[in-house]
Amino acid sequence: MTEYRPVTPAVADELRAIVGERYVIYGDPERMLPYAYDEAAGEEHAHLPEVVVKPRSADEISRIMRLANRERIPVTPRGAGSGLSCGAVPVYGGILLSLERMNRILEIDRENMVAVVEPGVVTNDINEAVREYGLFYAGYPMSVETCFIGGNVAENAGGGRAIKYGVTGHHVLGLEVVLPTGEIVRLGGKRVKDVTGYDLIHLMVGSEGTLGIFTQVILRLLPLPRERVVLLVPFPDVPTAIGAVPRIVAQGRMLPAAVEFMDRLSVQTAYDFIGERPPHPDIGAMLLIEVDGYTREQVEAEYDAVVEVCLEAGALDVYVGDNPATARRMWRPRQSLAEAFKVVSPVQSLEDIVVPLAQIPALMPELERLSRKYDVLIPCYGHAGDGNLHATVIKRPETPMGVWEERLPEVLTELYEVVARLGGTISGEHGIGSKRAVYLPLVMDPVLIELQRRIKRVFDPLNILNPGKIFPV
Ligand code: LAC
Ligand code: ZN
Repeated sequence: MTEYRPVTPAVADELRAIVGERYVIYGDPERMLPYAYDEAAGEEHAHLPEVVVKPRSADEISRIMRLANRERIPVTPRGAGSGLSCGAVPVYGGILLSLERMNRILEIDRENMVAVVEPGVVTNDINEAVREYGLFYAGYPMSVETCFIGGNVAENAGGGRAIKYGVTGHHVLGLEVVLPTGEIVRLGGKRVKDVTGYDLIHLMVGSEGTLGIFTQVILRLLPLPRERVVLLVPFPDVPTAIGAVPRIVAQGRMLPAAVEFMDRLSVQTAYDFIGERPPHPDIGAMLLIEVDGYTREQVEAEYDAVVEVCLEAGALDVYVGDNPATARRMWRPRQSLAEAFKVVSPVQSLEDIVVPLAQIPALMPELERLSRKYDVLIPCYGHAGDGNLHATVIKRPETPMGVWEERLPEVLTELYEVVARLGGTISGEHGIGSKRAVYLPLVMDPVLIELQRRIKRVFDPLNILNPGKIFPV
């Protein structure tokens, strides 16, 4: 294990010389406080950096990494801080490297259908920029309006449309990366195919800021589906709603862009949070389904098929949102959910377990069982269409804090064991970070953990780039 050294005033001066006085925060804990957190709930996960640095170019980052290696100071890269596994939290202090100033869309190349962007671009802004050309970027994390594309790549963010369009990595054609040792390399390019050597792009994608710092991302764009319909489908209870999901996806003979699920407590919490009433009085669970395509006829035929499956499966009703304003409104409660639960029930652990699609119906009674066994709430919502569910373990108000702290690791351990038994794993889209590192051995062969540690050492011999993440200490 590397012994890290502190950020001295002399090091801070060197950092100022690299990025400019204005872009270094040092010796000012109050201004550094926002950089101690990501969106994972709980003070126990937070950690102050010793210095915050805001570089503007790959070259500046390269110089920072060389300095950090020389001085043995840990460096934690950070995008918007919207992550949920503490990937951007500087658990060993050191240098917090914020990519917030690297926020330019460098190129929209219509002929090649790609966009070249810097890591600090808000993901949604890419879509705003390419829409006029009839193109779109298909990644769709729920934090799309605040998260940065660089963080999406680092975590291989999934989100609401992965079932049809795949996760972030499916759309990354190239990267410019500053390696932990300071070299600047370019991987891939504006080409859809590339089997020249190892697929290092997709080693970088999802590496949680531990193998390199992205300074440019080349993204594949797709023709914008001109037609989009959102269906809100209330069900009387969880088994009926969840039971409908594999039928919609696997037997619907079409692929919806999204199939999102919310149980009763999630529906209540979401609508209370946005100050609206749920669409039906007897909702025991709800699906939000999106169908998109290039012609009206195609989309109508497809959503007709979905409506039929839902009603056959026991839906109480189906509400159709077929214009952009209504569709946006229908997504809002779902998009607000993580925040809503964090505000209403701040003592919690938001999970992003994933199981094979057909195993979802078997997972739900297990959540119910665990919540009774450990006397916690486990509301559940998420990307049911791809088997990725946000079971959220929440402390009951009457449970003393000490009891909760002892109990949570037991709940998580048993939950993860259940998930593994069903052929799933502990994180589908938020990553391991520092939040789940101790649990990795529950779902991963020690041989594979050691292999990945060795890969990490090849890239980062002194273990200074985002230490404390992924691997159990
Ligand atoms: C969501 C985040 C929590 O799906 O991943 O809302
Ligand atoms: Zn999610």
